[in-house]
Amino acid sequence: MKNSLIVVLLLATGLPATAQNTAPLTARLDKVSLTFALSPNGQPTYTVQFGPKSVIKSSRLGLTLADGKGFDGPLEVTGSETKDVDESWNPVWGEVKTIRNHYQQLTVHLHQPQAPGRRLNVVFRVFSDGVGFRYEVPQQPGLSYFTVQEELTEFNLPANHKAFWIPGDYDSNEYSYSTTRLSEVNTTPIEAIQQKAAPNRIQTPLMLKSDDGLYVNIHEAALVNYPAMFLNVDTKTYGLRSQLVPDATGAKAYLQAPEHTPWRTIVVSDKAPEVLASKLILNLNEPTKFPTTDWIKPQKFVGVWWEMHVNKASWNYADTSNIKLAGTDWNRLKPNGRHGANTANVKRYIDFAAQHGLQSVLVEGWNVGWEDWANNWKEEVFDFVTPYPDFNVTELQQYAAAKGVQLMMHHETSGSVTNYERRQDAAYRFMKEHNYAAVKTGYVGRIIPRGEHHDGQWMVNHFNHTAALLGQNQLMVDMHESVRPTGLHRTYPNWLASEAARGNEFNAWSTGNLPEHETILPFTRLMGGPMDYTPGIFQIKLESWNPAQNKGRQVHTTLVKQLALYVTMYSPVQMAADLPEAYEQHLDAFQFIKDVAVDWDDTRILLAEPGEFITTARKAKGKEEWYIGSITDENPRQQVVKLDFLTPGQQYEATIYADGKGASWNKNPQAYQIRKQKVNSKSVLKLQLAAGGGAAISLKPAGK
Ligand code: NOJ
Ligand code: CA
Repeated sequence: MKNSLIVVLLLATGLPATAQNTAPLTARLDKVSLTFALSPNGQPTYTVQFGPKSVIKSSRLGLTLADGKGFDGPLEVTGSETKDVDESWNPVWGEVKTIRNHYQQLTVHLHQPQAPGRRLNVVFRVFSDGVGFRYEVPQQPGLSYFTVQEELTEFNLPANHKAFWIPGDYDSNEYSYSTTRLSEVNTTPIEAIQQKAAPNRIQTPLMLKSDDGLYVNIHEAALVNYPAMFLNVDTKTYGLRSQLVPDATGAKAYLQAPEHTPWRTIVVSDKAPEVLASKLILNLNEPTKFPTTDWIKPQKFVGVWWEMHVNKASWNYADTSNIKLAGTDWNRLKPNGRHGANTANVKRYIDFAAQHGLQSVLVEGWNVGWEDWANNWKEEVFDFVTPYPDFNVTELQQYAAAKGVQLMMHHETSGSVTNYERRQDAAYRFMKEHNYAAVKTGYVGRIIPRGEHHDGQWMVNHFNHTAALLGQNQLMVDMHESVRPTGLHRTYPNWLASEAARGNEFNAWSTGNLPEHETILPFTRLMGGPMDYTPGIFQIKLESWNPAQNKGRQVHTTLVKQLALYVTMYSPVQMAADLPEAYEQHLDAFQFIKDVAVDWDDTRILLAEPGEFITTARKAKGKEEWYIGSITDENPRQQVVKLDFLTPGQQYEATIYADGKGASWNKNPQAYQIRKQKVNSKSVLKLQLAAGGGAAISLKPAGK
C-alpha cells in the first residue's frame, strides 16, 4: 500500500494560548463547507453546508465526563490550524483499485477557562462528499484516566427529512428498515430482536433525503475503544443527538489521555449514486499495519448452512438437551439422524465447490455443544475444538485439499465471549493445524460478561482484538452479530465482512425481508463495510424443503434478483447460499455466480434511489470483464443502462440474465431468461425488472 502525499499546507492562526476567540472557523472542499463557532456561553458548535443548502444547522459538540468536569462548556478557542491533504492509496481488496483521499482539515484547540483548565481538540476533515470530525483529548496535567458519561454531539437537520431507519437496539441490527419522516420516528410498535429501544432511539448508518434534493448519510468511522453511537431523534425540531451504548454499570467509555473518539461522519450529495460511491469512511480509517497481506483471499463459498435454516437438517447431533460441556461423552449420545455436518454430506459440498470453482465450504454444526446453545445465558457451551463423532476433521481436510477446496471454520460463541476469549488461542491453533484459512464467528444471544451489550465498548474491543489476533495468525474472518462496521477493514483487511444487519436468512424463519430491503442496505448498513448477506437462493419458495415448518415462507425476490445482489451488495466474501441440489436444477443461471468477481478494479453506481432501485457495474480485478447488477423494490421498472464505461473499440459478449415473462417475487419468482448479445461502449441496454426482481449481466471480451 503506497501513500503519496501531494500537498500538505499548514496554516496556524497564531493566537496566544489563552485568548478567547469566538470568530467562526471554516474549512471547505468543493461544495462542502464546515463552520465551527463557540456559542455566546462558550459551547462548541458546528454547521455543514452543501453549496447554498444547509446540511447540518448549528449543532452542539462536546463530551461530559463522569467526574462532572468534562467538556460541556464554557470553553475558549486557543488556536486552530488547517491543512490540505491529497493522496491516494490502494486497498488490499475492494470496489476500486485506487482510492483518493482528498480533504481539508481544521483542528480547533479548546480550553476550559475555569478550573480544572482541561484541553480538548476537535478535528474536522472536509471532503468533497462530506465531513468527518472527532474529539481528541491531548496529554495534559490533571487528566489521565477518565470515563465518558455522554457525548453531546448533535446533528440538527434543517427540515423534516425522509429517513430510512432501524430501532436503536444495543444488541442487534437485524431489523427491517422503516421509511418515515423524522417527525414520525417511533420504535414502539416494532418488535425487539434483542433489546427494546427507547421510542426515538435509532441506529446509524442513518440515511436521509431532503425535499430539496440532498442525500445525507450519518455514521461513524474507525470505532475503536469506544461504544457505538446511536441517535435520539427530536421529532419536533428534527435534531439528532448522539447516544453512546452503556456498559453494565451505565458508563460509556473508559479512556486514558492521549486518546480520541471515533470519527463522526456526514456523507452528503445531491446525487444518490455518489453516496454509494463515497470512500469517506474508509479514508478516515488507519492503513493496515499487517506486514504482509498476500494471504488474504477474497472468495466465494458454499456451506452446510441453509439446509439448517430451512429445517432440512440440524446443527445439533443429538436431540438431548441440558448437556454440560465438561465431562460429556459425545460418542454415547444418540444421533438424531438429521445432523447436517456429517462427513458424507460435507464431501458432497466439497465436490460441488470443486466442480464449480468455488474456493471454500463453510460447515456449521461441526463442533460439540449445539444441543444446548441458544437463550440460556450459559457460560460454557462450545470449546471450538471438539468435533461431533460423525465429523471427521482429518479425513475432510485431506479430501478438500485433494480437490483444491478449503473448509471454512465456524465459531458460534452463543454470546459467551468470556468463554471464547479463554479458548481463542487453542481454537486458532486448531485452525492452523487443520488448514483452515477463515472463520465465520457468531454472537447469538445475550452477552457474557452479563450486562454488556453487543455494541458497547467492551464488545467493540473484543471484535477488534479478534480481528487483530486472527491477523497475527494470518487468518480471515466474517463476523455475525457483531457491531456494525465502520471501515475498520482498511486496518484489518482480514476482516472480510460482517453481518450486523438483517440477512437473507430472515426469509427462512420469519415473515422475511421486504422486496425493498436490498435497495436500502447499501445506503445504510453497507456504508460502513461489506456484509455477509448470503445471496444466491434459487429455491425461492421454501416449503419444498420442509412443508410442515416452512408453510408460506419464501425469499422475497425473484431468482434473478438473487444473482444481481452479488454486484449491488459489495463483499469480498460471497456465499452461494443455497443447497447444491437447488443449483443443479438451474446450472445455466448458476453460471453467473461462478463467473462474478469478488474483488474489483472499478465500480460505477449507474442508477440508485434508496428504497427503490440500484444498478451497479463493476470491473473485475485484473480483467477486461464487467458485471452489472440491477435490482428493484416491489415495483416492476425499466432501467436504461448506457455501457459508456466499457473500453472504446472493444467488443464484448453480454450474457443477460433477466426476469422471465410474468415473473414476480411472489407469483412466479423462478422464471428467468438468459440471452447473449454483442455490445460495445456505445450500446444502451433496456432492462425490464419484475416486481421484486432484477437483472444480472456479465460482459466479457468477444471472441474469447
Ligand atoms: C446466526 C447467523 O447469522 C447464522 O448465519 C448462523 O447460521 C446462526 N447464527 C448459527 O450460528
Ligand atoms: Ca444473524
